[in-house]
Amino acid sequence: MAIKVEELMVKQGFNYQVEDGVAVITYDLPDSPVNTLSPETGEAFTHLMSRAEAAPDVKAVVFISGKKDNFVAGAKIDFLQTIKTAEEATAISRNGQEGFDRLDAFPKPVVAAIHGSCLGGGLEWALACDYRIATDSPKTSLGLPEVQLGLIPGAGGTQRLPALIGVQAALDLILTGKSLKPSKAKKLGVVDEVVPVPILRKLAVQRAKELAAGSLKVERSRGQGFKAVVEGGKSKGLAGFFQGLANKELWAEVALEDNPLGRKLVFDEARKQLLKKTRGRYPAPEKALQVIRTGLESGHKVGQEAEAKAFGELVVSDVSKRLVEIFFATTALKKENGTSNPSVKAREVKKVAVLGGGLMGGGIAYVASALQGVPVRVKDKDDAGVGRALKQVQTVLDERTKKRSLTYREAAAKMALVTAGTDYSGFKSADLVIEAVFEDLKLKHRVIAEVEAVTGDHCIFASNTSSLPITELAKGSKRPAQVIGMHYFSPVHKMPLLEIITHAGTAEWVTATCVEVGRKQGKTVIVVNDGPGFYTSRILAPYMNEAAYLLAEGADIAELDKALVDFGFPVGPITLLDEVGIDVAQKVGPIMEAAFGKRMAAPKALENVITDGRLGRKTQKGFYLYENGKKKEVDPTVYAFLPHGKERKSFDREEMAERLVLQMVNEAVRCLGEGILRSARDGDVGAIFGLGFPPFLGGPFHYVDSRGPADVLRKLEHYHDKLGERFTPAPHLVEMVKAGKTFYPR
Ligand code: NAI
Repeated sequence: MAIKVEELMVKQGFNYQVEDGVAVITYDLPDSPVNTLSPETGEAFTHLMSRAEAAPDVKAVVFISGKKDNFVAGAKIDFLQTIKTAEEATAISRNGQEGFDRLDAFPKPVVAAIHGSCLGGGLEWALACDYRIATDSPKTSLGLPEVQLGLIPGAGGTQRLPALIGVQAALDLILTGKSLKPSKAKKLGVVDEVVPVPILRKLAVQRAKELAAGSLKVERSRGQGFKAVVEGGKSKGLAGFFQGLANKELWAEVALEDNPLGRKLVFDEARKQLLKKTRGRYPAPEKALQVIRTGLESGHKVGQEAEAKAFGELVVSDVSKRLVEIFFATTALKKENGTSNPSVKAREVKKVAVLGGGLMGGGIAYVASALQGVPVRVKDKDDAGVGRALKQVQTVLDERTKKRSLTYREAAAKMALVTAGTDYSGFKSADLVIEAVFEDLKLKHRVIAEVEAVTGDHCIFASNTSSLPITELAKGSKRPAQVIGMHYFSPVHKMPLLEIITHAGTAEWVTATCVEVGRKQGKTVIVVNDGPGFYTSRILAPYMNEAAYLLAEGADIAELDKALVDFGFPVGPITLLDEVGIDVAQKVGPIMEAAFGKRMAAPKALENVITDGRLGRKTQKGFYLYENGKKKEVDPTVYAFLPHGKERKSFDREEMAERLVLQMVNEAVRCLGEGILRSARDGDVGAIFGLGFPPFLGGPFHYVDSRGPADVLRKLEHYHDKLGERFTPAPHLVEMVKAGKTFYPR
């Protein structure tokens, strides 16, 4: 038996050492870059704790990680995926809860020494200790991100965190899944001390001894974090969606309400507000709220039971499965170099030059300087453009200092990385030039020649074009193998996706280098092959066209937008049109039609809207009304420029949404069939992070799989007969149905 326990501990990567009366337990899971939790971890840890309890010379325990920059990243997610039933998941949750309850009740003081990510089960583990010390490293972050995977903390976190830091701050962390920097964690009371990395271990042992001797006493006033405000991180992707659930005022009310009836009212209101945002699509935040409430009303034990039950139900839910798949897809993408040859290495990019200081160029200058951390030189054709670019970088940095995610000194250092001018000085030493001048092939050819005349032979030329074929651009280059597309989305500092486009002659090292640059700029990167509209613009085009067809048939603008928001998109297509610019969409239309023929032709319905000078938000005049920059209701006068005028017809909302979604999905399948996309996974990630395709559906390809390819094909045929050629099913879909296949293994 003893040998078996030893084996288990070694297998789980635990080390037990007694130093000066303190048992230091180090966790370093073998063959894994990060520490994760599984039932075996719990079992091994329990044995070690029993040993520490029984040893008379051990007065206290320190728990620390052996990994370089990771404490415990959370539960082993692929293990969660193997769970078949809710009951099984509930049992696992109970098991974890019992383990941490035992740790909580451990008769000797336990100190958690935290360096690196301390997330999910890792934080629950730390919460069950008596004292928490975190390093001040930027690698250290603490949080309970489970809702972002469609789950809730399942090992007591929904109960211990509110008890430690108060309900308001705990709701803000658990319902949004955001993570905290060490200084914030200290301010909220999640950790007791923040220290430099080199002294972590020594200080933890010291504090453990002091706790055992009684010279250090921890007095916690429940809810000490009531007044502290949790700082939001960058709004990005899925995390951004969940962070949008934050409702600090209401949560403050929840927290401060003592009277049971009052508490019921505020909880009911909090739930209502939450549902308004999640529209019932993402059950985890709502369940977390219920479980926290149960704990507050009925105590830790009943609260934990509710937690285990809710956790079990969520683990086997479709929403969680889809969110976990997205998580795996983005994790896998992070490890790839964007080529089919894993041995290709990215080259170092020490300096970036940006051509064009407009909306996109300014944004790119920000991510290259502030996030990638390299010197950036911007060139625009005139002083106004230079000023715009610099101002844009400064504005985003100011927002960050205001939110305190950067100090003034840090922001100033980042700003100092950016210089700008109206000539090519400073380009000579650039390793990568990213072009964001006007969308005009001739102009782009001209600037390629100019750039190549002033840069070194190794320099990469990347274009941020949204529609021009990279193959065509490369024809204007004397170094075509170093020409590539880097398609950013607007606003660049917020949108999580970067779509990289290679043409047939792009060198592999160039692709690998740009993928790495994108990643350093905080982007989720997909690599696609060249073709008109690449992937994202191409699948958006028929979706937007279908919206225009519906308007031409007499659909009501607000109803149409609502239909797609109900489906799960963050905004409706007409709102999106106003945001992007109606003129911009109109320019892309003919390019797509020229490439793909009639099925991509935009209806003429919108032409008159533009001739009225309505370009959307940028002119404060579009389909919607704008007041001080804020979007209001539909502008009723716009109907005068649309077929059927004010006489709008009623359409079934689900049918409207289905028509648009099927257009997008069908085009995505064409992209896969034609080899524009390298995998269904990339297509799902691109649509979710670039276009806001509902994450709970897992992307266009998961959507087809869930509905069944045959059903999607039938529906496309139905609309083809009813509405015409533009609904012709993608040949690849027809083949899949014939072969009885799905895009992902079932
Ligand atoms: P913009 O009109 O805001 O900026 C273009 C900038 O390029 C201007 O500041 C202009 O002065 C400058 N410029 C023009 N000729 C130049 C030259 N010879 N040398 C240096 N600078 C020059 O346009 P925006 O929106 O930033 O678009 C730029 C590119 O990014 C276009 O190719 C566009 O298709 C693409 N794009 C735009 C997106 C958007 O949402 N606006 C999204 C993705 C790509």
